[in-house]
Amino acid sequence: MAILYDAASKTFLLQAGGASYAMQVSPEGYLCHLYFGGHVGDTNLSHLLETGGGASFSPDTPEGSGSLDTLLQEYSGCNTGDFRASAIAVRAENGARAVSLKYLAHKILQGKKPPLPGLSAGQALPATYLNGLGEADTLAVAVEDAPLGLRVTLYYCVFNDAPVVTRWAAAENRGSQALHIESLQSACVEFPRMDFDMISLHGAWVRERSVERHALFHGTQTIQSRRGSSGHQLNPFAILCENNADENRGEAYGFHLVYSGNFRIEVESSQMHTTRLSMGVNPEGFSWRLEPGEGLASPEAVLCWSDEGLGGISRALHRLYRHNLIRGEWKHRARPILINSWEAAYFKFDADKLVAFAREAAKTGVDLLVMDDGWFGRRDDDTTSLGDWFVNEEKLGCSLHELAERVKAEGLQFGIWFEPEMISPDSEMHRAHPDWALHIPGRGRSLGRQQSVLNLTLPEVRENLFEQMSIVLKSADIAYLKWDFNRNLSEIFSGRFPAERQGEIAHRYVLGLYELLERLTGAFPHILFESCSGGGGRYDPGMLYYMPQTWASDNTDPVDRLRIQYGTSMCYPISSMGAHVSAGHSRGRVTSLRYRADIAMCGTFGYELDPTKLPPEDISMMKECNRKFRERQGLIANGDFYRLISPFENPNKTAWMFVAPDKSEALVQCFTVLAEGNSWDWRVYPRGLNPDALYEIDDWGFELHGDTLMRAGLRMQWFAGDFMSRNIYLKKIK
Ligand code: DGJ
Repeated sequence: MAILYDAASKTFLLQAGGASYAMQVSPEGYLCHLYFGGHVGDTNLSHLLETGGGASFSPDTPEGSGSLDTLLQEYSGCNTGDFRASAIAVRAENGARAVSLKYLAHKILQGKKPPLPGLSAGQALPATYLNGLGEADTLAVAVEDAPLGLRVTLYYCVFNDAPVVTRWAAAENRGSQALHIESLQSACVEFPRMDFDMISLHGAWVRERSVERHALFHGTQTIQSRRGSSGHQLNPFAILCENNADENRGEAYGFHLVYSGNFRIEVESSQMHTTRLSMGVNPEGFSWRLEPGEGLASPEAVLCWSDEGLGGISRALHRLYRHNLIRGEWKHRARPILINSWEAAYFKFDADKLVAFAREAAKTGVDLLVMDDGWFGRRDDDTTSLGDWFVNEEKLGCSLHELAERVKAEGLQFGIWFEPEMISPDSEMHRAHPDWALHIPGRGRSLGRQQSVLNLTLPEVRENLFEQMSIVLKSADIAYLKWDFNRNLSEIFSGRFPAERQGEIAHRYVLGLYELLERLTGAFPHILFESCSGGGGRYDPGMLYYMPQTWASDNTDPVDRLRIQYGTSMCYPISSMGAHVSAGHSRGRVTSLRYRADIAMCGTFGYELDPTKLPPEDISMMKECNRKFRERQGLIANGDFYRLISPFENPNKTAWMFVAPDKSEALVQCFTVLAEGNSWDWRVYPRGLNPDALYEIDDWGFELHGDTLMRAGLRMQWFAGDFMSRNIYLKKIK
């Protein structure tokens, strides 16, 4: 059992892989944080308990035991003397807004229980899951605010073989008056120090997940979304690490929220030079009315520790998500090499054109053709038809069934695109149900890409989408579905709910989306779902739970992709990263197909181009690249990923590698951008190899031991020209 409790001192010690997490109930009943970091063996950690004294101007607790303002706590309250960020905020019926939580009881549960409740009975929020007993255990600590009649259960799921603890909180109104929950964070994590750097992933459309790092300063640094979805701009992920930690060394902590809507990760360094990180649903605009007897659960927060720097955090999260988050038939299956029609045809296609793509692509070893946007309603551009999910047979020149069969006859499987959460004002759906779009009566409707967002809080909207989509999905042999989402939410309101419940709508939207996804993925388990939001605008663990891959970016320029994929790898498994080769000189940059393919191979791999227009040498190169990808696909998808040279630090060089879990093989990928004058030889230092094993180095004609390779490196000497790539395959021979 990875959860120890010392009754005498009321101390909890959680042992997660190589990490430990400790907390203690103070004599006054506050649940205090003691430690989070590398493994410690002693349960007797009472000497770490803060006294809560010392802060002038911060009032003492009602028990007169010093101030909450300086205490390291597991779940901070509000308006009761702790002036730092609150984990929970509650307004009572009389308008008073104060919470102070004290320990009540705890339970140690085998496995991971209970599931996080979602919108309706029987539905659960997306969360990590266990593949069998013994993988993790759960500590449930009940704390309460007696005057409010509020009980909060803090859950800690402790993984045995991974340095991971996941946390969530469930509030219950056990009193006699309604409570308004204005913030229910998933986790509050305290550190007795602030000499950390914070790393986050910022971006924009076609510029997703750039790595940004800065030292903590006194005050608050926040990353968040108010867009109704997690967004391109900031990912619900942060690292805190020692100031000198790098890719391979130093202590680092990863924090990731399993949620796809408005989120907030707030890091506050205090007057006492301590640090509090709170993460969860963004409290801004949020309020949830809990009637007596009702409850509300937060999404799950993933906490991860490593003393192998940032790379250690990434590898732990990649493994966790591959094994304990991604679900379904495609979890461990080799994913198909796709060809997607979007950049090849946009809205201008018919069945003959798509079949011609399939015919040409089949010659190169592509597995599946995706018909992207433009096949439904009267959709020939982006002004119309979202919501009308019936096939435009006139445009295609045949039924969907016939098209899928024709594509299959060419040797490819068939996939299709949907954007279910949207409605075009010019659509049959909108003409029949104008109220289904999110809007505020009496106010203009803000359109994005000429479309509104459907109010997914309405059960009839979800039902309609399920029905329409099911008809299409049953009508043909469909192996893949791309789920797009091309604008953020505005005019968030639902006339179905009273005034005091409007703060629930943004969260209810996400819960509605999850319910629909659960239903559809359950009804069509053989379909491979890929999430997309104008590229990677909703790349988050919540969506990964339903869809094993995400289109990483609409930007397929290879040089930009080096940064996008490098940043994405900070927390998302390579097997989840949609990466394609486009004909794409989208940035006016001319690069070889080989270069574009080598970069796209660090992902799910596929194409966004018209193969009928490619010169014969590119068709041969596609064939060669598909063959190579097939050979290395298992290693790329399941290997441990090491970032070797950062494109954020070296504008002209990037390198990364994949190492098989048993270290029997590895693939190093090196890329340059522009040739440099008077250029010099450079070295790449592989990581993660077995130091004692002897590795054959591709076709270089010699072998070296793992320790020599890792210490002395590989000399890169023949990178003449712009946009060059090298793949170096290492095979253990002894
Ligand atoms: C945005 C996506 O990211 C693209 O790949 C494509 O599917 C378009 N939408 C279609 O409208």
